[in-house]
Amino acid sequence: MPDAATDTDRTRAYWDTRHREHDDLASGGHIGLDRAGNEIFYALRLGALLDLTGDLSGPEAPLFVLDAGCGKGHFARGLARCGHRVDAFDTSEEAVAHARAEGGGPRYAVAALDQWRSAWPYDVVLCVDVLFHVLDDAEWARALHNLASLVRITGQLIVTDENTRHRVPRGGYIVHRPLAEYRAHLEPLGLRHTAFRPYGFRENEVGFHVFTRSR
Ligand SMILES: C[S@@+](CC[C@H](N)C(=O)[O-])C[C@H]1O[C@@H](n2cnc3c(N)ncnc32)[C@H](O)[C@@H]1O
Repeated sequence: MPDAATDTDRTRAYWDTRHREHDDLASGGHIGLDRAGNEIFYALRLGALLDLTGDLSGPEAPLFVLDAGCGKGHFARGLARCGHRVDAFDTSEEAVAHARAEGGGPRYAVAALDQWRSAWPYDVVLCVDVLFHVLDDAEWARALHNLASLVRITGQLIVTDENTRHRVPRGGYIVHRPLAEYRAHLEPLGLRHTAFRPYGFRENEVGFHVFTRSR
């Protein structure tokens, strides 16, 4: 039985070190890719996110977006450039300091997925490549419930994972969970699975699970 507190501390230390030692793309993207590979990986996913969230935003009618586990803020800045109003947070102080220094519109905070509170609901809550790094099941469930509670009715919760039928642990920092586990937690909260959009990037099997809130 893993010690949850130790797992969480170990994960945070891992991310702080990784954010300190790697450039803005490799630290949150794919550590095994070169700079050009990560540029492509991020560009394709930002395009997919814009496709999933719609292309009607502008300064007069922005979407209100939360980027939960934003890393160094690549997606947060990209969505802000496209006219959206973005709140973003991460547990890594190292990553948030970097994101703040880049500027570009989003409001940043240091927080954990199961801690973030907001006085307003979001049109879109994003959580890109974070939940499968949360190894402790109780923390993962708390995080998912909290993120779901932040989505306005008819809004979207977009999380990433493999579209697998079984749990797939990889190395010491990843556990992919089946869609059924996400649905078991989110459907009672009024969020229906409405799409899976694979990254479609080389051998990567992760993709965007879109849940739409109906009540
Ligand atoms: C693979 S990176 C992805 C970063 C960003 N979403 C991106 O795609 O560029 C995973 C991020 O999740 C953050 N993280 C891990 N566990 C977290 C938690 N419980 N709450 C908030 N952030 C967390 C890490 O600090 C790290 O920045």
